[in-house]
Amino acid sequence: MAEPERDRLFEHEYDGIKEYDNPMPRWWVYLFAGSILFCFPYIIYYHLGRGPSIQETLDAEIAAYAEQLMATYGELKPDTATIVQYMDNEIAMKGMESLFKGKCAQCHVADGSGNVGPNLTDDYWLNVEQIIDIAEVLNNGRVAKGMPAWKDKLTETQIVLLSSYVARLRREPLPGKEPQGDRIQPWPQSAEPPPADDLAAGAAS
Ligand code: HEC
Repeated sequence: MAEPERDRLFEHEYDGIKEYDNPMPRWWVYLFAGSILFCFPYIIYYHLGRGPSIQETLDAEIAAYAEQLMATYGELKPDTATIVQYMDNEIAMKGMESLFKGKCAQCHVADGSGNVGPNLTDDYWLNVEQIIDIAEVLNNGRVAKGMPAWKDKLTETQIVLLSSYVARLRREPLPGKEPQGDRIQPWPQSAEPPPADDLAAGAAS
């Protein structure tokens, strides 16, 4: 009678130690081979190709969440208090980060340090003295100087939140385009706590 496969002993013996020939179960071997095969398209798509990174997936989700959240803010009016207040709303600012990357980065660089347009992270500004001036520049642009007007392309709420985002860039000054314009005073501090970051809380108010 043939010996059952699992209990077959190997011929060899080392220092009196013998070894059974116990092959891995078939399903395990297939799984192992499958995972090796899987890694090639995975690496090609996610590491070398256009597949989104974990960070990009998270950013996209937060941006989508921010869109939803912004819908609950209603119409924001461009005044100093509102712009200052939203500078600390992390979710809204995440949403604006993706808007900025999409529409402004080509001239101001994704981090705001400037190339065609001025460095928005330093203390020197051409058209801005008060924080509210940012909203005015965004609305009307400086078309002759190469800064487009955004009044007809963005909603008023987006202009307000984007102004908060631009103002916030100054918190982390970056080397980039050389300073242009005059040195201006720091922005005013917010008197009120920032509006809730939370979708449920935003909807409730
Ligand atoms: C096509 C290039 C271009 C794009 C796109 C652009 N900007 Fe500008 N931006 C400029 C230029 C050039 C200036 C400088 C205008 C001047 O000389 O007065 C400027 C100026 C500004 C200023 C005023 C800076 C200062 O020192 O007074 C702000 C704020 C600003 N841009 C924000 C934005 C935001 C936010 C966006 C995206 C919605 C954007 N810009 C898109 C080119 C651009």
